[in-house]
Amino acid sequence: MPEHTKVMGKEWADARRAANVARLGATLAEGLAGRGDITFELGCGHGHWLAAYAAAHPGEFCVGIDLITHRVARSQRKQSLGKLDNLIFLKAEAMEFLEALPAPIILRKIFILYPDPWPKKKHHKNRFICPESLDLLARRSAIGTRLHFRTDDADYFAWTTEFLGAHPRWQIQPEQTWPFEQKTFFEERMKDKRDVIADLVG
Ligand SMILES: C[S@@+](CC[C@H](N)C(=O)[O-])C[C@H]1O[C@@H](n2cnc3c(N)ncnc32)[C@H](O)[C@@H]1O
Repeated sequence: MPEHTKVMGKEWADARRAANVARLGATLAEGLAGRGDITFELGCGHGHWLAAYAAAHPGEFCVGIDLITHRVARSQRKQSLGKLDNLIFLKAEAMEFLEALPAPIILRKIFILYPDPWPKKKHHKNRFICPESLDLLARRSAIGTRLHFRTDDADYFAWTTEFLGAHPRWQIQPEQTWPFEQKTFFEERMKDKRDVIADLVG
């Protein structure tokens, strides 16, 4: 690809990202007005897990996001059928969401369930867990925030354990157990589950 096309492509992508962050920031400022702590599910898929969690935890305000429009629409239907006023689902990309989150809002609990494992080595760069995303999650959290990660993929489990273990602000909590069981859409189809739980300590 010619160099000037690459530069224009990057400028366009940056401008689109900035517009997404600005739009999300406005939506979140309105939707989360007056809120402090939230329980956050990244990549909520069809919303099975978070809708059940929110129903069982009326004292927590829950926010689920996903990239895929029809999955978010199905999640939103669960919210409205369940008349859950402590839950919202939004279509958003995770890094954009974390950038757009209004400053007073703190991620108190984070759930990442069956994220895409990108099994081929050349695709590992697409995995959500990496030092940059762990930094950004930490910046939007507070001491004691708990991050819960579940996967069926042995390699992604080892990868996440390694990155969380090496991060200066997250500390793996091997004694902790998964706090709420409800099968997700993907969990129904998977044979395995492997959990990593970590707290923000610094
Ligand atoms: C394998 S599915 C798991 C969905 C759900 N957690 C479950 O267990 O049924 C991964 C989900 O993460 C979403 N996703 C992937 N990357 C994302 C990102 N950067 N921001 C938001 N959602 C993302 C995908 O659209 C997909 O719905």
